[in-house]
Amino acid sequence: MDKKVSVIGAGNVGATIAQRLVEKELCDVALIDIIEGLPQGKALDLSEAAPIEKHDAHLSGSNSYEASAESDIIIITAGIPRKPGMSRDDLISTNAGIVKTVTQQAAELSPKAILIIVSNPLDAMCQVAYEASGFPRNRVMGMAGVLDSARLKAFIAMELNVSVENIHAFVLGGHGDSMVPLPRYSTVAGIPITELLSKERIDAIIDRTKAGGAEIGGLLKTGSAFYAPASAAVEMAESILKDKKKILPCAAYLEGEYGIRDLFIGVPVKLGKNGIEEIVQISLTDDEKEALQKSADAVAELKSLLKK
Ligand code: APR
Repeated sequence: MDKKVSVIGAGNVGATIAQRLVEKELCDVALIDIIEGLPQGKALDLSEAAPIEKHDAHLSGSNSYEASAESDIIIITAGIPRKPGMSRDDLISTNAGIVKTVTQQAAELSPKAILIIVSNPLDAMCQVAYEASGFPRNRVMGMAGVLDSARLKAFIAMELNVSVENIHAFVLGGHGDSMVPLPRYSTVAGIPITELLSKERIDAIIDRTKAGGAEIGGLLKTGSAFYAPASAAVEMAESILKDKKKILPCAAYLEGEYGIRDLFIGVPVKLGKNGIEEIVQISLTDDEKEALQKSADAVAELKSLLKK
């Protein structure tokens, strides 16, 4: 393939991203992880599936960043999950340390790459990667809004018993309890859901979306969601690799857009070969603006924990 994507962290999310990227024949993939044998084993296993899945994308697995050199995109999923008894502050500082080191190493070998951050807590990890890479803001983004919007779309489709393909939905804001689903901009075949569902049903769907990650975590017991997160990261990568210029909700570094400054938060962006090619500013009602500002305050609080 003439494009290359490196996926740092060959765990559940990273390996599923690698699988989807090669099965769509979008690029060659380098899988990198700190655990010896893990990225090599998963890359080889996926390569052995290639004759059956019928793709010619090449996969490599390595513990060394040399394998990631000259990537078009670097997707960072490295980190540790929150363990029982672990405080949010401990999780942030551990994952910030991991994301900082992996970003520095990967960015140095692929100075023109576009970074897609997946590690949590997402908005804070984007900030770490932005600072560690020194890349311009159009080349650093986080995956959250595409996942949260996909969950909202899935729940709307289940509620109305219609095709998921008929549904469009937007979730903005930080990736967490403060996310801002926008029912006014959520439609079924172009019809806003506010005309199809009662306020009670919409509120219930929104609550389920906000708790989407926790619902899966609770069912799985060990580990967290990975199929939908991987699909979301791959949709972003595909728009960049094919220069499709899709408008997707992604965590972007705002410099005054939506009245927010110096912060990564989920907003609609246009994704093409240059990364974030535009931050799309949609009009919001006073209530929506207030919810986005509240979400920005929650992200700013997370960001402040990074400095401790
Ligand atoms: N360098 C490279 N890889 C690392 C490092 C490091 N310094 N530290 C940890 N890793 C690897 C782990 O070895 C593991 O294989 O990151 C991988 C994480 O995989 P999982 O534990 O399976 O976690 P996963 O479910 O894939 O989630 C990864 O994405 O959605 C987010 O919240 C999630 O932050 C988490 C991340």
